[in-house]
Amino acid sequence: MMFSAMLVLDVNGTERRVPAAEGETLLTLLRDRLGLTGTKYGCGEGQCGACTILLDGRAVRSCRTLASAAVGKRVVTIEGLSRDGGLHPVQRAFLEAEAFQCGYCTPGMILSAVALLDAHPHPDQDQIIAAMNGNLCRCGTYLRILQAIRQAAREGQRS
Ligand code: FES
Ligand code: FES
Repeated sequence: MMFSAMLVLDVNGTERRVPAAEGETLLTLLRDRLGLTGTKYGCGEGQCGACTILLDGRAVRSCRTLASAAVGKRVVTIEGLSRDGGLHPVQRAFLEAEAFQCGYCTPGMILSAVALLDAHPHPDQDQIIAAMNGNLCRCGTYLRILQAIRQAAREGQRS
């Protein structure tokens, strides 16, 4: 692969200098160049949410985001969510609610939930569904995912 640019990115609070090919997506840059494989490749077409990351706090599909678009913004992946060595409150809520089976959708689900709760600390059911609607779970754990998000909201993300 021909690299066309050296990008300087803020990834999980650390400055990273990463070579990128022209038109390279943020998903492949994170997974293949930085080894952050918690960000999953699902459909590659913006339809499943498995590749969701936070860009300046907003949940975005990294498979549909150019790596160059992340320059000057804060990128947070599932690997960067823990605080002081402990799980993020939304991660804890997912664990406690057993809101996953295979876990493939889980990083994207959690990051979408974090973005939702940061914007709306006490979302109603419609807001939760609207925010999470684009994240698909092949294992069908939706009810437990809703339960985990409601729990994290009730406890104010326990931060
Ligand atoms: S892999 Fe990005 S939305 Fe499916
Ligand atoms: S837990 Fe398997 S895809 Fe969601």
